[in-house]
Amino acid sequence: MEELITIENVVKNDEKGSPILKGISAKVMEGELITIIGPSGSGKSTLLSLLNRMRDPDSGELRFKGTNYLKIDVLELRRKIGMVFQLPTMIQGTVKENLLLGPKLNRKTLTEKEIDQLLEDVALPSTIKNQDARSLSGGQKQRVALARTLANRPEVLLLDEVTASLDPTSSLEIEELIQTLHQQQRKTILWVTHNLKQAKRVGQYTWVIANGEIVEQGPTEEVFEHPQHDITKELIMTSYDQEGESR
Ligand SMILES: Nc1ncnc2c1ncn2[C@@H]1O[C@H](COP(=O)(O)OP(=O)(O)OP(=O)(O)O)[C@@H](O)[C@H]1O
Ligand SMILES: [Mg+2]
Repeated sequence: MEELITIENVVKNDEKGSPILKGISAKVMEGELITIIGPSGSGKSTLLSLLNRMRDPDSGELRFKGTNYLKIDVLELRRKIGMVFQLPTMIQGTVKENLLLGPKLNRKTLTEKEIDQLLEDVALPSTIKNQDARSLSGGQKQRVALARTLANRPEVLLLDEVTASLDPTSSLEIEELIQTLHQQQRKTILWVTHNLKQAKRVGQYTWVIANGEIVEQGPTEEVFEHPQHDITKELIMTSYDQEGESR
């Protein structure tokens, strides 16, 4: 398996110079599904934002297939490493117009067949493409957001709490969809989630981030069955307390 992303001693400070990420090192192997857990404010979203160059680290280095991020064209990198957020933002217009957005930045367009394929990949009926994107349900919007990212044919998907604002049924549907993308399209996935059961269910490998550091990482089952760090133990305990609240 190829090492797809290398994170080496990455430091990110806020505007006042206080550390958000305090020297993170990790590797992402091709085809891996990594779940990222950790307390609120620990730096998970900040790390994802560095991984597709929405922001740059203050020091340290990021590499994609061995090449320093700074030597890769930004748009090219963002196509290869796509991101989906908690709240899908739809531009005014149809589903089709929303899907055309990503490739348009690349001066490309999508054929009708490609649009139908993308919709099929996210289990939406082809008839939805002429509907007003803003009128869709939360779960449908999240599918369109995923399809929009997939339109760029990314190798890596960065997912930031993509099911957090959905009802339990839609949440499970999106979860299954992402697992299918991982298995069938061999996407490498980094998935930040507060839902510990989800993190355990879907992950092959898990990183625990606390106070701007990866305090624990390992195969998901090991992290959940034999947590080493106090913060991991606490996270898992708290998720048991919330039994029934989050599936
Ligand atoms: N643009 C910014 N300017 C200043 N501080 C920031 C900025 N972005 C993030 N932070 C700070 O960095 C820390 C980490 O934030 P981040 O959003 O990465 O945490 P998180 O782990 O994603 O939290 P959550 O689970 O609540 O989403 C927080 O203290 C936050 O206030
Ligand atoms: Mg976050």
